[in-house]
Amino acid sequence: MNAIPDFDSALDMLAWQVELGADEAIEEEPVNRYDLPEAAPKANLKAPTPSQQPVIHKEEDIDAVVEARKAAASAGSLEALASAMQAFPHCELQRGAQNFVFADGLAAARVMVVGEAPGRDEDIQGKPFVGRAGQLLDRMFDAIGLSRQAEDAKDALYITNILPWRPPQNRDPSPEEMAMMLPFVKRHIELAAPEVLVLMGNISCHGLLGRRGITRLRGHWQDVAGRSAMPMFHPAYLLRNPVMKREAWADLLEIKARLKS
Ligand code: URA
Repeated sequence: MNAIPDFDSALDMLAWQVELGADEAIEEEPVNRYDLPEAAPKANLKAPTPSQQPVIHKEEDIDAVVEARKAAASAGSLEALASAMQAFPHCELQRGAQNFVFADGLAAARVMVVGEAPGRDEDIQGKPFVGRAGQLLDRMFDAIGLSRQAEDAKDALYITNILPWRPPQNRDPSPEEMAMMLPFVKRHIELAAPEVLVLMGNISCHGLLGRRGITRLRGHWQDVAGRSAMPMFHPAYLLRNPVMKREAWADLLEIKARLKS
């Protein structure tokens, strides 16, 4: 039996279709599009000579994870990494997204937050964590004296996500999407070189620790490529479960103490 979506989900689905360009309603009468006047002249149908033929790589011959590792490793700066990610042709999410979302804040910050993926607001603005969850994230870190607006590295925050493109209807990333984008995230961490990482929610823990189960992981320091990493409840989860803010506050104090020590 098909479940009827609630109002908010129906609105999200409609907005998603409009974003993809599906903005024409089905009409009462069928339209024979073969009878419509030609909009553009016919393409030149002469067969291309061998030198004009494009080199076609079959997608199944390409290992996207290997390609991602090569592209990430050859990026020597954050700017080069952002360009390499935008030029990476194997992640289908790029086609449905309006914007590439790389990072926000000060790259030299002592603390780097790794979230999940852009949502609708982030996709529109091209910046991570700018919707309701992002506003809560800002308030949480403000409470321990850290901000993405700060110009001094000691008070600053640097923010990115596991995925730089919004998944359709904010679904969880597939294992393939995660695997092919992870080399870029790891290189991003290497280049930014923060003292402390904050892994926001299960997707981030899954990607960087290979483990889920945020309820058990949160509050316990982990190691990500030699750096201290604190798993925390995702702010979107805290918006739905405000009683868990007490745990989030304890984790923030733990981060503050680590930065002082
Ligand atoms: N949630 C995330 O994990 N990242 C964002 O950028 C926005 C919402």
